[in-house]
Amino acid sequence: MKNTFALLLVLVFIISASCKRNAGDVIENKVNDLLSEMTLDEKIGQMSQLDMGSFGGPENIKQAARDGRCGSVLNYLGTKEINELQKVAVEESRLGIPVLIGRDVIHGFRTVFPIPLGMAASWNPEIVKEAFRISAIEASSQGIRWSFAPMIDITWDPRWGRIAEGCGEDPFLASTLAKAMVEGFQGDSLSDPTALAACPKHYVGYGFSEGGRDYNTTYIPEPLLRNVVLKPFKAAKDAGAQTFMSAFNDLNGVPTSGNPFTLRTVLRDEWGFDGFVVSDWASIQELISHGFATDEKDAAAIAINAGVDMEMVTSCYYDNIKQLLDENKISQAQIDEAVRNILRVKFRLGLFDNPYADPEAEKTILNKSFLEHARTVARQSVVLLKNDNKTLPLSGEISSVAVIGPLADSPRDQMGTWCFDGDTAYSVTPLKAIRDVLGEKKVNYVAGLTYSRDKNTKGFNEAVRAAKKSDAIIYFGGEEWVLSGEGQSRGEINLPGAQSELIATLAETGKPLIIVLMAGRPLAIGNEMAASDAVMYAWHGGSMAGPALADLIFGKESPSGKLPVTFVKGSGQIPFYYYRNNTGRPAVPESWTHIDSIPKENPQTSLGYRSFHLDYGYAPLLPFGYGLSYTTFEYSNLTLSSDLMRESGSITVKATVKNTGDFDADEVVQLYIRDRVGSITRPIKELKGYKRIHLLKGEEAEVEFTLLPGDLAFFNGKVTATEPGEFDVWVGANSDEGLHDEFKFE
Ligand code: NOJ
Repeated sequence: MKNTFALLLVLVFIISASCKRNAGDVIENKVNDLLSEMTLDEKIGQMSQLDMGSFGGPENIKQAARDGRCGSVLNYLGTKEINELQKVAVEESRLGIPVLIGRDVIHGFRTVFPIPLGMAASWNPEIVKEAFRISAIEASSQGIRWSFAPMIDITWDPRWGRIAEGCGEDPFLASTLAKAMVEGFQGDSLSDPTALAACPKHYVGYGFSEGGRDYNTTYIPEPLLRNVVLKPFKAAKDAGAQTFMSAFNDLNGVPTSGNPFTLRTVLRDEWGFDGFVVSDWASIQELISHGFATDEKDAAAIAINAGVDMEMVTSCYYDNIKQLLDENKISQAQIDEAVRNILRVKFRLGLFDNPYADPEAEKTILNKSFLEHARTVARQSVVLLKNDNKTLPLSGEISSVAVIGPLADSPRDQMGTWCFDGDTAYSVTPLKAIRDVLGEKKVNYVAGLTYSRDKNTKGFNEAVRAAKKSDAIIYFGGEEWVLSGEGQSRGEINLPGAQSELIATLAETGKPLIIVLMAGRPLAIGNEMAASDAVMYAWHGGSMAGPALADLIFGKESPSGKLPVTFVKGSGQIPFYYYRNNTGRPAVPESWTHIDSIPKENPQTSLGYRSFHLDYGYAPLLPFGYGLSYTTFEYSNLTLSSDLMRESGSITVKATVKNTGDFDADEVVQLYIRDRVGSITRPIKELKGYKRIHLLKGEEAEVEFTLLPGDLAFFNGKVTATEPGEFDVWVGANSDEGLHDEFKFE
């Protein structure tokens, strides 16, 4: 019986593998047939992506489609308009090749989810996957079949405005989320009309822009590149991502849109990627500003040789490919390969069979269940940073609250950066949601500051009056949407405007002070945390940020998010990330003397000579993985199935987690390891697993993780391998604490 079952399984596997192979062959044949009919001009057309604005509007784009000179467009919107364009491409161009419509659908289309950094704080790939599925359903209903996401640039610099768009600082967390995002976009079948081709970006290293200044140079040694930066991209490729976007930055002296090592050696040769690579906006032309190409012709040659298949917006390819071929600076085989890569994706998306969007599909947009999911994601993305004396949750019976702050009622700001299509009419603010819970009369609302950068304190008195007549103050502040995102980097990452003064003034009233911060980056908020009783970090939470926050404030659910990034004390502490090396002089608490305590005479005797700042000290404000709950969790019974792992083996790590408080809640249980000695230095902690569990009050559960030899492997400059030696393992609530054990790998 057992054998028959095993045989059946093998048969099913063989049949499904061979079906897949056949489907692949069918597509490959179609691609080659089409390619053999194409003129060089038509091939170059497929390699060009036109922007509606820069190309002079819809009529010009349609003409380009008619002429077969438009493989893809971006920033073209509307079901009717897109269908009309497709009709021109399919019916009026010589070969009828449909246009691939791309758009930046980064964290939702019309239903807006939290910014990706916020989604990452949920540590919940399932709900993130569903959010991306919903985004795909909404966007595809208008004929969009390709999104320039997920953005999975690891960054260790919160000054960088684009930290908002990514999944934070850690390669493991980002990899699990990258997989979820790709799977959500692409669905079960690429040819399903609701599937969007994913485009992991920005390949690669862009998040390491020096000084956090956008578009800046990056220097990333290969071990860091492979052990950290490339990890989420590999996960996205393995999840089936169909396209990649080459980035703006130069990497170790070679711009990434002209980098054969990352685009050919790693992506194609090592990973076997068979989709296509699009440049970022004008990043081929920008090879000239980089000082890497002499002119547009040179730039086109470099990008083609490096393996960029499609050019976004600029026309270096269109204007120069023919001449480059004549001069033998590029080959016909390279052009054919690029076009094959593009057509392959178009065939996989089913565009040739069904190029049009069904006008009926648009009806699903802003569906109630989509908004409800946005509320769930927003709720799970909120991180409780402080809750002295159980200030939160507030009772629904509270007689009055003061709602203060520039982001209490700012529908656009809460939707965050990279939000082209969100509808402010559907963006429910915290003020509205709190009024819905308590009724208008119990809510004393005064903005105090009109927007986040407002320095005018004239509204403070009224805010204080509102605070004094209320039982509690809830302050909603942070950053407006425009302070994070592309080109929106900051040198100081404090609360902008006069917000800190307003918070300090409110604290003087002595009323319980809750601050809720919505921002596109982790801000340096040490003083504000100290001044308040409770702090929730809500990122930019999207359309349903208000109701989600009200759910938490009034205890419908407990906060359960965990930080996907370290919070620093101030900009001068950057970079500070948990995944750091130990150094030869690791900081220990006893070694630190605060700058103000150094004696004038013989000052050197008080110094620890260790790795810290005299002013900031040795620790960040809050560690990666941190987040409180309305309940408490107790961790116990850490057990390892063995204290020895061998090449072909594995270790099971188990721990018991108990809800010891009086609130049903989720906890994100985290597993970290440390490779004690390596052929290159290894980080003091590496996340290797996490699980979100729900525990009723008093309930306990055993959480289990499996560690495999591959989980311990790293690139040491020559090879990727697991090195024999001793390993630490921790299971706990954040990167700074946890039950500890150890094992050996032989
Ligand atoms: C430039 C940005 O860097 C990229 O993320 C985006 O997808 C493109 N512009 C298209 O808008």
